[in-house]
Amino acid sequence: MKEELQKIKLEISAAISQVKDSVTLEQLKIKYLGRKDGKLTNVLKNLKDLSLDQKKDIGKLANEIKVDINSILAEAKKRVEKNEANNTDYFDVTLPGKKYPLGHLHPLTQIRLEVEEIFKSMGFEIHEGNEYVSEYYNFESLNIPKDHPARDMQDTFFVKDHPNMVMRAHTSAMQVKIMEKRKPPLKVIVPGRCFRNEATDASHEHTFHQIEGFVVGKNISIGNLVWTQKKLLSAIFKKDVKVRLRPGYFPFVEPGFELDCSCLICSGKGCSVCKHRGWVELIPCGMINPKVFEYAGYKKGEYTGFAFGMGWSRLAMMKYGINDIRLFMSGDLKFLEQF
Ligand code: PHE
Repeated sequence: MKEELQKIKLEISAAISQVKDSVTLEQLKIKYLGRKDGKLTNVLKNLKDLSLDQKKDIGKLANEIKVDINSILAEAKKRVEKNEANNTDYFDVTLPGKKYPLGHLHPLTQIRLEVEEIFKSMGFEIHEGNEYVSEYYNFESLNIPKDHPARDMQDTFFVKDHPNMVMRAHTSAMQVKIMEKRKPPLKVIVPGRCFRNEATDASHEHTFHQIEGFVVGKNISIGNLVWTQKKLLSAIFKKDVKVRLRPGYFPFVEPGFELDCSCLICSGKGCSVCKHRGWVELIPCGMINPKVFEYAGYKKGEYTGFAFGMGWSRLAMMKYGINDIRLFMSGDLKFLEQF
């Protein structure tokens, strides 16, 4: 047993002299002195089976060896720690890593992607469009001449030193720009940011999001318009929705409508969200005014079509039950982390 003890001592001092880092040193310490299964600990456990004389003799040696090993370990610890402090390349791979917070898509982006997929499945193409457009595309080409009172509805930001340019007040500004370059049949959506000179409140924001859509071809009818909106809303809200048309005024459509959908909160029975009407105003739309086709350069009477301008922010508000449009652009993480 004495021999065994001496052998362990030699083995452990040889191993310790090779150690270069504190992790390995700690592992060695456990290997030899660990309470459960340390090599030296196991030998010491056998002491109880020896005779009293042997116990005295070997026990003494075992204790000396234990003290020696502890001091060799303490010295090695100092050595490796000094080494580690000087060596900047060293890093402890066993330390837990830093956790970086993971972001996710903004709720408006989430709903845009969802709506785009639905339109794609109906054969629509997606255009990005420009946010900074000429007054011509934002107003004139949409049958809103200078000094026409309809310009008030879409008062936007004019750009200093660029008298004919504006931040688009609606995605309708892309209608003629796209039609000029393309011949029908056309099925297009334009999701994008719009800007208005608004006194902001819970449902009005100077920067907001719309999805323009238009379909142009031969014999396109109001029936096509209603069917498309109904399918679209049912797909977005994942339940059958009822729609109805009321007259609405926009110079670039004739006739123009406000399309309402049955309130999704109360299923049309009446609640505070729909102001007890059972209907929620959701999509302004109409049949494209022949004047607009004239601006696009299409032959008179050749095509018909419909257009609609979905409030994409409003859609997200309905879908997620958000009661203030200003939250979207607030940058408030407490709000955003809920989606
Ligand atoms: N562009 C209009 C608005 O923002 C909405 C609209 C689009 C109305 C298309 C009719 C047809 O107010």
